[in-house]
Amino acid sequence: MLPLTNSRLAFLLAALPLSNAMAQTTTAPYDTTRDYHSYSNPRAMRVEHVDLDLDVDFKTKTLGGTVDLVVHRLDEAARDLALDTRDLTIQKISLLGEGGKLTPLTFRLDARDPVLGSALHVAIPADVAAPTFTVRIAYRSQPSASGLQWLTPAQTAGKKYPFLFSQSEAIHARSWIPLQDSPQVRVTYRAHIRTPRELRAVMSAGNQPESALNGDYRFEMPQAIPSYLIALAVGDLQFRSIGARTGVFAEPLTLAAAANEFAETESMLETCEKLFGPYRWTRYDLLILPPSFPYGGMENPRLSFITPTVIAGDRSLVSLITHEMAHSWSGNLVTNATWRDFWLNEGFTVFLERRILDSLYGQARHDMEAVHGLQDLNQDLSTLEPRDQVLAIDLRGRDPDDAFSNIPYEKGYLFLKLLESKVGTERFDAFLRGYFDHFAFQSITTEQFVEYLKANLLDSAPQAVNEADLTAWLHQPGLPENAVLPHSDAFLKVDEERRAWLEGRKAARDLPGATWSTYEWLHFLDNMPASVTQAQLAELDRAFKLTQAGNAEIAHSWFMLVIRNHYQPALARLDQYLLTIGRLKLIKPLYKELMKSNWGAAEARRVYADARAGYHPITTKSLDEVVLKKAAATSAATN
Ligand code: BES
Ligand code: ZN
Repeated sequence: MLPLTNSRLAFLLAALPLSNAMAQTTTAPYDTTRDYHSYSNPRAMRVEHVDLDLDVDFKTKTLGGTVDLVVHRLDEAARDLALDTRDLTIQKISLLGEGGKLTPLTFRLDARDPVLGSALHVAIPADVAAPTFTVRIAYRSQPSASGLQWLTPAQTAGKKYPFLFSQSEAIHARSWIPLQDSPQVRVTYRAHIRTPRELRAVMSAGNQPESALNGDYRFEMPQAIPSYLIALAVGDLQFRSIGARTGVFAEPLTLAAAANEFAETESMLETCEKLFGPYRWTRYDLLILPPSFPYGGMENPRLSFITPTVIAGDRSLVSLITHEMAHSWSGNLVTNATWRDFWLNEGFTVFLERRILDSLYGQARHDMEAVHGLQDLNQDLSTLEPRDQVLAIDLRGRDPDDAFSNIPYEKGYLFLKLLESKVGTERFDAFLRGYFDHFAFQSITTEQFVEYLKANLLDSAPQAVNEADLTAWLHQPGLPENAVLPHSDAFLKVDEERRAWLEGRKAARDLPGATWSTYEWLHFLDNMPASVTQAQLAELDRAFKLTQAGNAEIAHSWFMLVIRNHYQPALARLDQYLLTIGRLKLIKPLYKELMKSNWGAAEARRVYADARAGYHPITTKSLDEVVLKKAAATSAATN
């Protein structure tokens, strides 16, 4: 412990009023430029570079070492460097001077807020005159870090080695690095990572797949990125090139299937560039994770993290790759300034994703995915509270993960689709390209987008949308009346086949299921009536082996039907599915459906008791609410 000097006491006292200021309620006027999910104050001091030096310890399930933060002081009078942390053990903080000289600094770790974590206040002495200085923090993460999952060998494909991966979006970077965890702050980074010798580390940075497997890896990310894009994975990873700038990292057992499934990645990248301008991140590689990965994909720069559940064998689910790749423009290049603006990341990305699909596979595929998305959106519009149906969403006091829904994705997409319909595809493509160039490597708010939209699109097309339209789309619940809704002829045919089968006019084996794409199958299964007979389910299962489906999306839709109708022959397989897959989008609806009946709730609790230990902290947090009926934590300080 440092002696309690006068300057230290003054620092401790100076920070006290902060906690009072935070006791305001969510009705306080909203400052759209402020990030309510970070304790940092980047307007006074801004971290510009992060340098990590970490040991990966699978025995204790911790990361330990140091981080150097290069800080730029914008406000000369500022003395308090406020950082975000969650469940970190802070050992020592020093000022890193000339020749590596370390001067201890005073710091204070605040009480833990259930949503935001603990603010870390570092006192920067008045005699630090330079506008840029470096602070070194020695720290260790905890095994329960919300942004890390430590897997046992049994949870991997190879079953021989452990695996670690990070998931920093939305506000989990703070659980493995003390930093300014706000998308408004962009940093370059370097890392020196030590692992067990037989494992390989990869990051959202320059990866060197040909470097020796020796447990000692160095990374550099020269492009400035927000903290939620800092990413790390460690495991028995091999690499295979699939194009000039593209390749796949995966466990040896998964590598060949993944390389084949995603063979089109390079040509997809070329299509993106034709539409939206140069790819600015050097390489685009994929990392295939074990099945407990809580999302479909995560757009970590240079290295998208991908669930293995999209390896269907027939390339039918590659639009997930298109989506993560498109984030290289919408999201990673032009970034949401706060989590209220999340729709700028996801709505734009869904729009880009479908625009690219159009150009690669034609309109029919686009239409199917858009109608499928609309169905998801309508589902959410019928269940979510009005305040959660708006694009520019007020998330004060809540974890952004807890408000995750289809709204930013599909309502955002439809808003852009409306704009496109007013000016034509060609002009809208050009507008988007200009937008990415204009805001490249910046983080922007919804208001900044609207201003740009008015100046660069609506100026010459004032009839396209008016102020009331903008308000309705961005700030009001529901779907505005002027939405241009997608239609799919292919789905109409599927509807006709379903009707014929349900009415007994056609046997299951005579359905054209063998020719259906994944999306046609999903449409077929997702739109069954509330109850279907046991005989009908058995007939369908016999004809198409649905209980054994290798396509995880089709299996999911089938299991929804299975649960709704308590179709027992499929329940053992459902157990297995829930025990291996941790992707929230696939398993949360299954648990929810199970919880609706007595037999199902018992089943859900039984499987969850076994499966929980294998799920990611993000997954368990969300499923605890569903299965164990634990309420989501809200911020004590709803400032
Ligand atoms: N960035 C998201 C994943 C995410 C969002 C993680 C919010 C944490 C907080 C990613 O790009 C995404 O949208 N993934 C989707 C893919 C789908 C829309 C094609 C997913 O995981 O399902
Ligand atoms: Zn996305």
